[in-house]
Amino acid sequence: MGAFKEPHGGVLKDLYLDDAAAEQAKRAALDFKSWDLTGRQLCDLELILNGAFSPLEGFNTQDEYARILEEMRLPSGLLWPIPVTLDVDPGFAEKIGAGETIALRDPEGVLLATLEVRDIWTPDKDREAAAVFGTGAAADPGADPGAHPGVDALLNRSGAVYLGGRLRGVEPQRHYDFKLFRESPAELRARFRKLGWRKVVAFHAHKPMHRAEQELTRRAARDCEANLLIHAVLGANGPGDPDRFTRMRCYEHLLARYPEQTTALSALNLAPRLAGPREALWHGIIRKNYGCTHLIVGRNHAGPGAGPEPAPGNASFYAPEAAQELFARHQEELDITMAPAQDMAYVEDRAQYLPRDEIPAGMTARHLSDAEIRRRLDAGLEIPEWYSFPEVVAELEKAHPPRHRQGFAVFFTGLSGAGKSTVANALMVKLLESGARKVTLLDGDIVRKNLSSELGFSKEHRNLNILRIGFVAAEIVKNGGVAICAPIAPYRATRRQVRDAVEAAGGFVEVYVSTPIEVCEARDRKGNYAKARAGLIKGFTGIDDPYEVPERAEVVIDTRDLAPELAAHRILVKLESLGYIR
Ligand code: PPS
Repeated sequence: MGAFKEPHGGVLKDLYLDDAAAEQAKRAALDFKSWDLTGRQLCDLELILNGAFSPLEGFNTQDEYARILEEMRLPSGLLWPIPVTLDVDPGFAEKIGAGETIALRDPEGVLLATLEVRDIWTPDKDREAAAVFGTGAAADPGADPGAHPGVDALLNRSGAVYLGGRLRGVEPQRHYDFKLFRESPAELRARFRKLGWRKVVAFHAHKPMHRAEQELTRRAARDCEANLLIHAVLGANGPGDPDRFTRMRCYEHLLARYPEQTTALSALNLAPRLAGPREALWHGIIRKNYGCTHLIVGRNHAGPGAGPEPAPGNASFYAPEAAQELFARHQEELDITMAPAQDMAYVEDRAQYLPRDEIPAGMTARHLSDAEIRRRLDAGLEIPEWYSFPEVVAELEKAHPPRHRQGFAVFFTGLSGAGKSTVANALMVKLLESGARKVTLLDGDIVRKNLSSELGFSKEHRNLNILRIGFVAAEIVKNGGVAICAPIAPYRATRRQVRDAVEAAGGFVEVYVSTPIEVCEARDRKGNYAKARAGLIKGFTGIDDPYEVPERAEVVIDTRDLAPELAAHRILVKLESLGYIR
């Protein structure tokens, strides 16, 4: 055996043009049609160009795609289980002819590569889903393939047409974070060579690692008599997992927890597909290209909710160990060895982690689920030392402060004159009085004077107005602030969009001010109802424009029988019960 593993197919690709050719390509590309790459496509492009996807030299052509779906192989016969395709919208595809070269750009318009388009075709995505995700053969016959998040992403991806062909790299993507860790296969191989590492077992790190993962990776390295590579996957985050900044800092802390000089950390800009067994094989090929000799493969490797403990409802897409079985069947051909991940558990009587099947009779194992960890972070409760390292926990706590330090939005909705502004003001003053929170009030009037001064009251303009409020609220919430919004927001679907945007950043509490139209009209403080009845204002909410009543508001207030102060108090009580204030 040579000093280093051969890359898949024997040659490590490097598809970047030299400086002179890149300059020439940049000039030529001024006349090319341009495609702005999506997040996933940016990841794929980087790994094709830098050789991580060797032997690919571009986005899959139609015959490559067909063989990959049917046999998990490229036309050359080499194993390749996952299609790597460039999906574009039909309108763009129509303008392109086979043989044409197009420019691929990042979202800022920087030219990253050119693609010599060989094939343009409309794929059967249902077939692709069945072949790649194996959803036809789900372990649980009741599992709904549409619920598979990987399938869902494939089917809902906007690009209905695929373009295949050869890529030429003009400029590497710009990354501003963790630059030292973002290594190409050639760079990582050079690092291994410099360190004198001949055998390297890779760990596909896509979630925070705690003591169990540290122990299982340490044991894998020991059993394989190899060094360990923590290969941090930066391309995407699992739902509910901390962002890549937090994860990388956690991995950096973890490095110090291994015996000195045994373990390395590197970053991989891979966009996961969640394709389970096929994806496990793919991970093996990629690691081989990076010069690793072994890959740690878990039960349920790379499936939805993969990890030591699959998320509820997700485990059923693949039979347990399906990934390990497929890998085992192909590892000789792939020439990279599987290190099966052992299921580690903490045994209190021994004060140590042991593989679950080695726990002595009569001793019990302790376990905390991901959901329990999140609950504890939310509530500001302790995460025990047996579970994780204090420096890792500190990072998680920083990224996920307890609820009373998280941002939240209180979103009032209701008719004009229902009392939204009055209650919103009372709530703001009460929150400011406690001094614990920074509050921004996005009242309907304030917003229409500033943010939305050019908008009227057509359905389209109202939606725009509400979405703007949602955008600002989400930014405030993301940074730990409190946003109080008080527009009419008459349409359910738009309120839903705002809720989704804000909930991705923190808390969202909808308050429906349900004061009936007769009361609002009788109050008619601004005289607008009279004008609307007289036909002087058209499309007035509640008169000749609809108000869609909220179905799941967290708080409902009718100002007929509740003074503003008491209404504000009721909202405070709700916020307290949800943990947002104390
Ligand atoms: S929306 O639908 O959420 O964008 O409305 P919003 O920004 O909250 O603005 C509501 C205030 O604008 C006055 N106004 C109208 N309301 C409803 N329909 C029509 N056509 C309309 N034209 C003007 C209305 O008096 C609202 O004021 P408030 O302070 O809420 O009573």
